[in-house]
Amino acid sequence: MNKFTRIGFILAAAGSAVGLGNIWKFPYITGEFGGGAFVIVYLLAIVFVGLGVFIAESLIGQTGESDVATSFVKMSNSKNPNWKFAGFMILAGLLILSFYSVVLGWILNYVVSSFSSLPTEASAAGATFGALTKDIGTQLFYHTLIAGTVIFIVLKGIKDGIEKVNLILMPLLAIILFGLLLYSISLDSFSKAVSFMFVPDWSKIDEHALLAALGQAFFTLSLATGTMITYSASLPKDANFVKTSMSVALIDTMVALISGLIIFTFLFEAGSPSAAGPGLVFISLPVIFSGWGFLGQFIAISFFVALVFAGITSAVSMIEPSLLFFIERFKMTRQKATIIAGSTFYSLGIIALLSMSDSWGETLTFFGKNAFDWMDFISSSILMPLGALLTCVFIGFYVDKKILEEKFLQHTSIIVFNVWYSLVKYFIPIAVIILFINKLGLI
Ligand code: PHE
Repeated sequence: MNKFTRIGFILAAAGSAVGLGNIWKFPYITGEFGGGAFVIVYLLAIVFVGLGVFIAESLIGQTGESDVATSFVKMSNSKNPNWKFAGFMILAGLLILSFYSVVLGWILNYVVSSFSSLPTEASAAGATFGALTKDIGTQLFYHTLIAGTVIFIVLKGIKDGIEKVNLILMPLLAIILFGLLLYSISLDSFSKAVSFMFVPDWSKIDEHALLAALGQAFFTLSLATGTMITYSASLPKDANFVKTSMSVALIDTMVALISGLIIFTFLFEAGSPSAAGPGLVFISLPVIFSGWGFLGQFIAISFFVALVFAGITSAVSMIEPSLLFFIERFKMTRQKATIIAGSTFYSLGIIALLSMSDSWGETLTFFGKNAFDWMDFISSSILMPLGALLTCVFIGFYVDKKILEEKFLQHTSIIVFNVWYSLVKYFIPIAVIILFINKLGLI
């Protein structure tokens, strides 16, 4: 198998982790849960839950050197072939990609429209965004562009496609974010944004906040979708999987925090509310940018371009687990695997976008949720918690502890291993079960 370089792996895994989850979702949920206290809860969820599962996935991938299903089988006690069913995780990635591509399409549309003009009032901005989510033609056009780009990249393979794209886009993303951060530091409201994000107000923290933090930790680290197992299959055999996992989690967390600081500075500078929900990036920000004239237009374009770059490197990582699965288990060529997985997510994406339109909305709404929301719900609230739970139970109860310990001791001390092992065997499964039951109860 064509392997990543160590740094190529970190870039690609960070490229996968850093996405709309960091720049769009993290700031808006932080805003909804009142800032500082939520950030602390989120950081705890990353360290004690996300990182534990991340290391587990990386270890399974690096050891298995194969697709998700095969890697589970190879690592299990007496190589039990039934573990191939853990391969169901690849479905979560494909399902997320279906609507993620539509959302990336909206953002690409915002890049293009920011060149001509920005809305000057919140009502106009809200109307523009609302109209876009109902406009079949425009969404189809941009969804096709995004899907085509993703397919084009993954057709070239892990090294010439995925690694190369990350090598180019990740530094560009870092430059844009750094520029935006410097600009926000120069604004008066920066200190307000810092205290909003780092001075805790515990009054808004309830079980919903805990669940949101836990769910976000999985999503933002691209866990339970087979992504990190698949990428780690291409991690060099001698690479320190504990260290690389920590680096990726650190980069991902830094980007989330920096995005939060940038966005809250902008919001406070304009006197806008911090709890604007999902429309924050699509409605509140364009209005703020428009008040800054030409500079604002430049910032708007840079910001949306950064989102597209971050999103594309995540999107390719959602389809790769399916490709490797088809290639390894069904001996398909990469082309054939890409056609099958690509047409699946592309068609599901069309269903997702149609389900928001006036003409198809009713037909594609089931039990009060449209197809778009169902895809989000099934992937994030059902498949991801199940995948994470299965991974932890697998490591804790169906893999020889000696083997795990040996792998860890090549790179770290026994204390690190013991802490990780107890987290994965007991703490995380319990946390995930609570998350799962609550989420289902909250439908
Ligand atoms: N981590 C990505 C983000 O934050 C999303 C993602 C989820 C990518 C699952 C791959 C797999 O946007």
